Amino acid sequence: MRLRPAPLEDWLREYYFTAEIDISSSGVESYTMAQLRQITGLRPDEIDALVFDDGYSLGAPAVRQAIADRWGDGDACKVMTTSGSSEAITLVLTALLQPGDEVIVVQPGYHALVQYAEALGCRTVTWRLDPEAGFTPSLDELAELVTERTRAIIVNFPQNPTGVSITEPQLGRLVDIAEQVGAYLLWDAAFADLTYDTKPLPDVSIRYARGIGFGTFSKAFGLPGLRFGWCLAPPEVLADCVRVRDYTTLHVAPLIELLALRVLENAEAFIEPRRERARANRELLRQWAQADPERVSLRLPDGGVAAFPRLLGLGDTYKFCDWLFQHRRVLVIPGSCFGAPEHIRVGFGGPTQALSDGLDRLSTALSDAGRRSAW
Ligand SMILES: Cc1ncc(COP(=O)(O)O)c(C=O)c1O
Repeated sequence: MRLRPAPLEDWLREYYFTAEIDISSSGVESYTMAQLRQITGLRPDEIDALVFDDGYSLGAPAVRQAIADRWGDGDACKVMTTSGSSEAITLVLTALLQPGDEVIVVQPGYHALVQYAEALGCRTVTWRLDPEAGFTPSLDELAELVTERTRAIIVNFPQNPTGVSITEPQLGRLVDIAEQVGAYLLWDAAFADLTYDTKPLPDVSIRYARGIGFGTFSKAFGLPGLRFGWCLAPPEVLADCVRVRDYTTLHVAPLIELLALRVLENAEAFIEPRRERARANRELLRQWAQADPERVSLRLPDGGVAAFPRLLGLGDTYKFCDWLFQHRRVLVIPGSCFGAPEHIRVGFGGPTQALSDGLDRLSTALSDAGRRSAW
């Protein structure tokens, strides 16, 4: 297996822990343990009662049921809990794919969704989101890319890094396209609960027998460090995932599942305040881009909390982002981490003041023509 580097993770490893203003994230502001306990009512004695036994290969039954009830069709047999959705993605891809399989991936996109199938020896075919069309996904183009050999289509809507999504009728068409050739449809729903003008899309696992959904606490729930995620998949696919897991992580830690269950029981209390703040921040971002059309071109995200503006006149934003961090202590992500170097990823899920200050510093840097030679 030949894994290419993940430039996004390299960038974050270097800068994430020392940023003064972090407006890079694809998630909302993280909660503290105290806030988690306050929202869920979890008592210290409940934590003390936990025995550090081994856990279930597919996840604790009550947690699987809570996930099936909220995002699935109520059947807990179709749920597996994982260490973040990253584990769900790699387990499913490893279980489903063979070298030589044809797999459709979306670009620009999140590295695990774009590169992992290739590392497994698959032939990846790119469904490209066109920046000139505001990254709007064209299902006609997808229909032309699938063939009888297509084993899987891997998508993520709302999407990282562009924030674009599809409508519910388009989801129906997407399922039809996959179904026509019998392909698995892998649906990364990391941002499903972060929509602004429409209600969240249903998970594909309830729409299509070969639909597989991935979910996580890392984005809308503000709990990335908890490392909790899941997949919704046909039981036979999950059985194959367990075969892989038996050699890797074995199961999710019971302590994590205890916390996860309580969070799931109070899901809206975690999501709602962060989503409402992101809604206001999204407007701030829109105004920021609108105020500087000479330098910034932005397609307003449909969902999620990541935006992917193009910085006009910069062919490759990498050096600019590096300069912005070194000299202005503001963290954003260069678009090259997603294969689109003229862009940057800006996260708008954090505190409003930080977003406002970060965008101000970004604008000042962009307008400082004298410094342009530095990037
Ligand atoms: C689209 C998408 N999927 C999956 C992940 C993995 O997240 P986690 O493993 O924290 O659930 C990320 C993280 O940024 C992401 O953006």
